[in-house]
Amino acid sequence: MNSQKTIHGKLSCLSLYAASVLLAACASGVKTPDSYLDAGLPVHARVERLLKEMTLDEKIGQMCSYVGEAAHVSTPNADEELRYVLSIGDRADLVKQGKIGVFIKVADYEKANDLQRLAEQSRLKIPLLVANDAMHGHGMYEGAVTIYPTEIGIASTFDPAIARRIAEYTALEMRATGNHWTFSPNIEVVRDARWGRAGETFGEDPYLVSVMGRSMIEGYQGDDFSRPGNVLACAKHFVGGGIAYNGLNGAPADVSERTLHEIFFPPFIEAIRAGVYTLMPAHNEINGIPCHAHRRYLTRLIRGTWNFRGFFVSDWMDIQRLFSVHKIAATEKEADKIAVLAGLDIHMHGPGFLDNVRELVEEGSIPMARIDEAARKILHAKFQLGLFENRYVDSSRVQNTLLKKEHVDLALEAARKSIVLLKNENHVLPLDKEIPSIFITGPNADSQALLGDWATVQPAENVTTVLEGIRRSVSPRTKIDYLGFGHQAPPGDALLRRARERAALSDIAIVVAGENSLRFDPDKTSGENLDRPSLEPAGGQMDLLKAVKSSGRPVIVVLVNGGPIASPWMAENIEGIIEAWEPGMAGGQAIADVIFGDCNPGGRLPLTIPRTAGHIQSFYNHKPSAFHRGRFYRSGREPLYEFGFGLSYTEFRYSQLRLPGKIGIKDNLEFGLTIENTGGLAGDEV
Ligand code: GLC
Repeated sequence: MNSQKTIHGKLSCLSLYAASVLLAACASGVKTPDSYLDAGLPVHARVERLLKEMTLDEKIGQMCSYVGEAAHVSTPNADEELRYVLSIGDRADLVKQGKIGVFIKVADYEKANDLQRLAEQSRLKIPLLVANDAMHGHGMYEGAVTIYPTEIGIASTFDPAIARRIAEYTALEMRATGNHWTFSPNIEVVRDARWGRAGETFGEDPYLVSVMGRSMIEGYQGDDFSRPGNVLACAKHFVGGGIAYNGLNGAPADVSERTLHEIFFPPFIEAIRAGVYTLMPAHNEINGIPCHAHRRYLTRLIRGTWNFRGFFVSDWMDIQRLFSVHKIAATEKEADKIAVLAGLDIHMHGPGFLDNVRELVEEGSIPMARIDEAARKILHAKFQLGLFENRYVDSSRVQNTLLKKEHVDLALEAARKSIVLLKNENHVLPLDKEIPSIFITGPNADSQALLGDWATVQPAENVTTVLEGIRRSVSPRTKIDYLGFGHQAPPGDALLRRARERAALSDIAIVVAGENSLRFDPDKTSGENLDRPSLEPAGGQMDLLKAVKSSGRPVIVVLVNGGPIASPWMAENIEGIIEAWEPGMAGGQAIADVIFGDCNPGGRLPLTIPRTAGHIQSFYNHKPSAFHRGRFYRSGREPLYEFGFGLSYTEFRYSQLRLPGKIGIKDNLEFGLTIENTGGLAGDEV
């Protein structure tokens, strides 16, 4: 045997031995000095090491999400979607094969642990990302959690610190239950009040939306989502859902490039500056191109110009819908190609995507580099979140975190700050707690509709309805007469007559009106995919109001709603009007505190309330030419209530306005003024 051969022979034995040690180590998950499982390595090094080990299927598997039991596929086209919801058994096999990277809408923490156990059996043991729509608390979790006011109410506080703390506490409740990623905040700008999701946004002003969006992202992600209480945030939906045709969810939006840059892009630019790690394109097309196919925006503008470092997740079925709805793809496979090349990194949701993308890579339609880019970003998040080391949660952490006192206290504080006083004729409010009798009616008087959208019904003892809040606040001698009323059913004359007669017997009538955005409530009147042709309250509520008004007693209306409610008749004829939005689990207490003066309302409108649907679009930052001809035929163009409007139980005097003599075109305008509370009650002013 010549020397060359001998050396060669020895080397081959040695390398075989080393390889077997390494393989054994990987198989057992033992941290060999340079394996991706070594938590001592920097994240980018772990990502690269893991990526080298992965097959094409395993890389594409990271881009695949599936839904868990909490999906309750309840959208209008449920049957079309059910075929994408795999059985538990089928999903288990795919997880063990490393072909699923993300689960969304997992019902509870035990099911999250079950799924992670399956992932740990896979060849590379890559943990799953578990995600949900925790928009204002961990509301879609199937268990008792803390539910805060919806975004429109958070915006009404004009207090970014409130937004940040809500996000921070929500992140704690998510991580305690094995969830790592929330599809929040919604940073769309609303220009059409008919949109059923207006209550899910921070309103019409790009600056307010940007500030609130940044605050929630910072609350969710902390500095770099590396702490055990952090979750990934998701800036959504890019772009234009708040100005789609007729306010219809997912309908086309046609917006000039200038208006996009001035109004709709700034919140996303701010979110990216705040470090948001995920971003969700919108259902709709923008200027003729479906957002999920928009390579110029997703890759060139957002990744390139705006330097977005995170990953894109599709909205629900929106890659398939490039084929089934937008019809720009002849097959689902072509839809997958268009979306992945446009920049999409995670597919929401279901089977078909992995096989299609594998074929597309093998046939050269999608470059391997695009798959590696997507897989890198997803793996970066999983390492950064610490999931390789801490993929399970335990029941003690769940019990100690959900509904913590400071979380529930914040829910009340936020609800109080979110309430806007729209009218207070003759200072009818606040009421005296010794008032002898109150008549209460309306569909939201004793309803969990005050939880808003993206919330499941909570245990009754955790929610204070308006009726309960009022009962707790008044003196024991006050007689409360409550008459139930549905959200939608036309009331019929008998019920209206009873309302009028019983109101006449009381000192004052309180009608708790508005909408019901509760996601799984059959009596739903608003929220996602429930856009409205009118801004008046649904069902027979206007008949009820007029019947109660005809009793001759003073009437207070409390509005519980997401999108704006507008009724010129109500604005004209009702003495006291409180806009409470969807104030969350403590909403009834907060509303009662405002009614009886324990809280001086300081909320301000984050969007314009048009007079009627016919006055849409109404928003404050309109162009000079918008109304230079003045009016509608026999109707003013003025909105019912302006952006920023809100009354107080006290008075504020503005004086000593201080402005610079002149400013340059590109300068910020720095100004100062003195605000003085000249009334008898403490209060805050925006
Ligand atoms: C919905 C919404 C989106 C949500 C997603 C997952 O269609 O548009 O905001 O995050 O599906 O629930």
